Amino acid sequence: MISDGKPILDACCGSRMFWFDKDNPLVDFQDIREEDCVLQNGRYLLVHPNFLGDYTNMSMPDKSYKLVIFDPPHLINPGINSIYTKKYGRLERNSWKDNIKKGFNECMRVLDDYGVLIFKWSDIDAKVKSVIQAIGQVPLVGHKTSRHCIWMVFMKLPIE
Ligand SMILES: C[S@@+](CC[C@H](N)C(=O)[O-])C[C@H]1O[C@@H](n2cnc3c(N)ncnc32)[C@H](O)[C@@H]1O
Repeated sequence: MISDGKPILDACCGSRMFWFDKDNPLVDFQDIREEDCVLQNGRYLLVHPNFLGDYTNMSMPDKSYKLVIFDPPHLINPGINSIYTKKYGRLERNSWKDNIKKGFNECMRVLDDYGVLIFKWSDIDAKVKSVIQAIGQVPLVGHKTSRHCIWMVFMKLPIE
C-alpha cells in the first residue's frame, strides 16, 4: 500500500474505538487483520481498515504523514480466545519489546520532519518505563504512571 496523500496514519486502527469520526477522510486506517464477529458479551467487533499492513514493516515511503497514531496491542500472552485478544490483539512474551520497537521505528520513518507521533499504551502487563526503554526514546509529554491508559507524545526531529 502506498500512502495516497492523507496526512494522518492510524498504524493499527482496530475497531477505531477512540475516533470521534471513524471515517475521518484525512486518515489512512491500517490494521494487520479484518474482523467481523460477535464477542462473548454479545457486542459486535468490526475491524475494517482501509488497507491491511504490518506496522513493523510498512510499505509507505519515508516522511509520508504529519501525524501518526500508534496504539499497538499491549496484552502479553492473553488467552488466544479471550475477548481482549479479539479486541486488542496480543503480544508474545519473548518478543514483545522487539515488536514494539520495530513498530515505533516504522512509525517514525513514515512521519515527516517535525511530525507528531501519538503512542497509546496500557500498562496492565508491562509498565510504561519498560516500554520507553524498549523503544529507546523518551516522550515529550505523557502520562508517567496510570491505572492502565497512557498517552505519550513524540516529535520527529530532523537529523542535522
Ligand atoms: C489496542 S488495538 C487498537 C485499538 C484502536 N486504537 C481502537 O481505537 O479501537 C491494537 C490493534 O493492533 C493490531 N495489530 C497487531 N499487530 C499488528 C501489526 N503488526 N501491524 C498492524 N496492526 C497490528 C491488532 O489487530 C489490533 O486491532
